[in-house]
Amino acid sequence: MFIVMSLGGSVLAGELDARRFKTYADAIIQISKKHKLLLVTGGGVYARKYIETAKAAGANEVACDFIGIDVTRLNAKLFIAALGKTAYPEVPVNYNEAAIAAESDKIVVMGGVLPGQTTDAVAAALSEYLKADLFLIPTSVDGIYTEDPNVSKNAVKYKTMTASELVQMSCGLSLSAGSKSPIDPVACKLIERGGIRTIVLDGRDPKTLMKIIEGEEKGPQKECDGTIITPCCL
Ligand code: UTP
Repeated sequence: MFIVMSLGGSVLAGELDARRFKTYADAIIQISKKHKLLLVTGGGVYARKYIETAKAAGANEVACDFIGIDVTRLNAKLFIAALGKTAYPEVPVNYNEAAIAAESDKIVVMGGVLPGQTTDAVAAALSEYLKADLFLIPTSVDGIYTEDPNVSKNAVKYKTMTASELVQMSCGLSLSAGSKSPIDPVACKLIERGGIRTIVLDGRDPKTLMKIIEGEEKGPQKECDGTIITPCCL
């Protein structure tokens, strides 16, 4: 399979920890023995810290987005360092560079590209553009919930949902630089528009990621540990 992943900064770089990058890189190298991979890394807490500081210093939203993009690219560089020779050595800075890099037999890692979105949207767009078989969103929550599970005890996890339901849910989400939401609204729309098979999962332990990929190897799963977003109303 060709798999595109939006690797949330919260999963990879909560705090900067070389062991975390190495552990994740080892899992990704294992997966790459069977599958072609393109990873888009998020900015995590550091992106948020930089953006907060820039806002307080008077920067506008687009200027803050550019700062966020820089941090996502720094995380991509750290991940490339952890992957070593299995990684494509450069961080693509746009979709066409990503397409060229994906022609190689290396694991491609990149960050953000444009203001007004997050790395989820970059990964969703690349999934469609490069015809990925599967789009994975490893994050720090084990799927999509009716409400924020960190805030409400009544939050219920969706085992599956349609892309249209996902778009409905994303309508009220903020696009402000550094805002925290399960998946950004631009990404939701791209998932719907592109008919991309998508799974949101708990990426804190890479074993969960490996298990879900193994499940998909036998064909599209009906259920897994995360939330499966089906392209249309099935
Ligand atoms: P992230 O992709 O890390 O945001 O981008 P996120 O998904 O909310 O956070 P984590 O990493 O999963 O915890 C960080 C910020 O960088 C800017 C936005 O301001 C975003 O909030 N950004 C990122 C862009 O403007 N464009 C991009 O293509 C990517």
